[in-house]
Amino acid sequence: MHNRNSTPDGLVREDTHDFVTTYTPSGDNSINALGRLLRDNRDYFLDHIAERGVLLFRGFQPHSHQQFHELVTGSLGLEVWNGFNLKKTPGIVTSWLRKYSEGLVGGGDYRRYLDRDTVRLGPVESSIQGPHTEGGVRSERSRYIALCCIEPAPYLAETGMADLNQAYLDLPTALRARFHTAWNRFSYRSARKLNPLDRLVLRLSPFQVTEREDGLADMALPPCPATCAVPENGRVCLQPWAFARNTNRPVRDAARAVFTGRGEIGLDSTAEGMDLSWGLCDDQGNTVPWTEDEQRQVFEAIFRRARLMAWQKGDIALVDNVRIGHWRMNGEQGNRKLVQIQATAFNAEPYHPARLPMDPELAGA
Ligand SMILES: [Fe+2]
Repeated sequence: MHNRNSTPDGLVREDTHDFVTTYTPSGDNSINALGRLLRDNRDYFLDHIAERGVLLFRGFQPHSHQQFHELVTGSLGLEVWNGFNLKKTPGIVTSWLRKYSEGLVGGGDYRRYLDRDTVRLGPVESSIQGPHTEGGVRSERSRYIALCCIEPAPYLAETGMADLNQAYLDLPTALRARFHTAWNRFSYRSARKLNPLDRLVLRLSPFQVTEREDGLADMALPPCPATCAVPENGRVCLQPWAFARNTNRPVRDAARAVFTGRGEIGLDSTAEGMDLSWGLCDDQGNTVPWTEDEQRQVFEAIFRRARLMAWQKGDIALVDNVRIGHWRMNGEQGNRKLVQIQATAFNAEPYHPARLPMDPELAGA
């Protein structure tokens, strides 16, 4: 039995950033060797994701998304969990469903399913995405995300990542206190008048639908925690999902203030295309104010904690999707092929800090 605190044989471990640990092969760098290492040290790696935030495996060179899928689900034994594909439909059906719902809400982030679990992430733009936890539009989401770089971008297009506990602690006291008890509330306005198929699809969805006089519909999701504690250590983390139209300008302004010297930074087209709004409320559903200036402060706090992951071919990253927020940076798409698997069901609600006895120092409240 391997000692859970020491680095597994066959790997060199280096803490390359505040929240990133990089593992490189000390000998055999074959994909089979990595598979064995993940299988034999599963508990060690899961402990370390919670402790560190991001684990990066570099120098093993997986060549296909199928090999990546096998490493994550077979070797590491993670259970795929994808809010967009809970019924385990084939990739082509999921892509159609996603496209259909993009038509309903307008816009969308042209990510496509390569199989029923593996997603190819959308193309690079001259904009910087809003920071988010994957699936953070709802309480039910995945605990981990795994990313694999099949082909890097020719220029920039990194994945920004930030420790959402540090960003939370960096907020001005009054804003931090508000987030300590707040809930995120997301609501879409439909892009077209509802037709019978829309109504049928929506009846099977979590949306609370209000049809308006003009035929359009407001579609609100149940509120989800604006902050969430990491289950293993109680660190309170912001839980952003900044794809809303009302937060798009504050995101861009925060990005321009923090990420200088990267060329022109425009508005994110996904957030601009959907009529989605992100507001805050209390546990009774009463609106909690959040000005544009405060939105910018939150995004700046996150961006200032950024680690820009410059992908190398074959990199695999395992990310704690509660502790670490991420977003796509601007750059050149080229043949960039970054694929993602979301894994392990997680519900943020029981970990809302307002529902937990908190260590005041960790909570920062
Ligand atoms: Fe994402």
